[in-house]
Amino acid sequence: MFSTSFPPLRSTLLRSSVVLGLALLIPTALATADPGSDSVTSKYFGKTPQGEPVYLHTLTNKNGMSVSIMDYGATVVKLIVPDRNGKLGDIALGFDKLTPYFPLTTYFGATIGRYGNRIAKGQFELDGHSYQLPLNDHGNSLHGGDKGFDKRVWKEEAVESDSPAVRFSRLSPDGEEGYPGNLYTSVTFTVTEDNRLRISYQATTDKPTVINLTNHTYFNLAGAGNGTVLDDVVAIRANAYTPVDSGLIPTGEIKDVKGTPFDFTSPTPIGLHLKEVGGKPVGYDHNFVLEKGLFSDWSLAARVEEPTTGRTMEVYTDQPGLQFYTGNFLDGTLTGKGGKSYPQYAAFCMETQHFPDSPNHDNFPSTVLKPGDTYKTTTVYAFGTK
Ligand code: GLA
Repeated sequence: MFSTSFPPLRSTLLRSSVVLGLALLIPTALATADPGSDSVTSKYFGKTPQGEPVYLHTLTNKNGMSVSIMDYGATVVKLIVPDRNGKLGDIALGFDKLTPYFPLTTYFGATIGRYGNRIAKGQFELDGHSYQLPLNDHGNSLHGGDKGFDKRVWKEEAVESDSPAVRFSRLSPDGEEGYPGNLYTSVTFTVTEDNRLRISYQATTDKPTVINLTNHTYFNLAGAGNGTVLDDVVAIRANAYTPVDSGLIPTGEIKDVKGTPFDFTSPTPIGLHLKEVGGKPVGYDHNFVLEKGLFSDWSLAARVEEPTTGRTMEVYTDQPGLQFYTGNFLDGTLTGKGGKSYPQYAAFCMETQHFPDSPNHDNFPSTVLKPGDTYKTTTVYAFGTK
């Protein structure tokens, strides 16, 4: 039904990889930061209300690109990349301090688990057992429940890597937030020489369970707090999406994007068809069914260009879906880094994932993890300029 070839986006991508190749040479020459050496540094960032210390780990490459991740929620707090003039800027929404993260319901930058996105009525069946999860989103379970992986302090682990990297791990005990099995999870963040942020996840369990890990960074390529992302030009390699009901639960249908506001098969400004998407609040908050045509399991999922700064971002993943969310629930009440507020559409998220509510849809790829198997997945966010 959906072609595996992808002509419009493919030609854009081939073109852009040439542009990207050239651009990668330029920022190094123009970068305002001193071209230095790779580094990994850690500093105390504060403590949780329970008194657990939280550290902020910063990975920097030779071009001055850096990402800072804290142990609380294995959360991306800062993401600093050059613009077309080599000027470095922080493109991740978040806060300068730790405390505003605690009451947060926006999941800024966090590692999401055990199950990213929604499970209808918080219920699923597995091997003849019924499970009930906390209902934290209008009668459904969202992003792992009341106290998901985003609200836990992860343990930093030693990691061997040629590039700056940090690994976090945690054991989620059997029954945590209603999910079965002791789940041992790790997530590794790496910054490469060619301005890529790689996020690799692994997990094992001792009982059959379901799992869907992702990262919830809110990107504003013009800089966090600098207006909205409505003029950003987005391409998503998806010929189909999963339509949802009013509670954002998939109906089960896998629908062709052609002729809908979900057609990003050629580069399109986010704001162009946003109103036609509808929803309360209006905007994109949908799972796109990624095409696996070009590079089999591992492929380019999306590309974004920000016109004023020239920053570009490409997303590569081995996951079947991409939740494209345009910050519809932001309303300007959160004051973020540098005292700037975050209005509606102040950022977009590209959450690589399995489809929402997969445990209740046999026609969606399975999210079951069995004892003896290892869950492994990697997503890369590649930054450049145009
Ligand atoms: C996800 C969901 C959105 C919203 C945000 C957090 O992206 O799909 O509906 O809940 O998290 O605000």
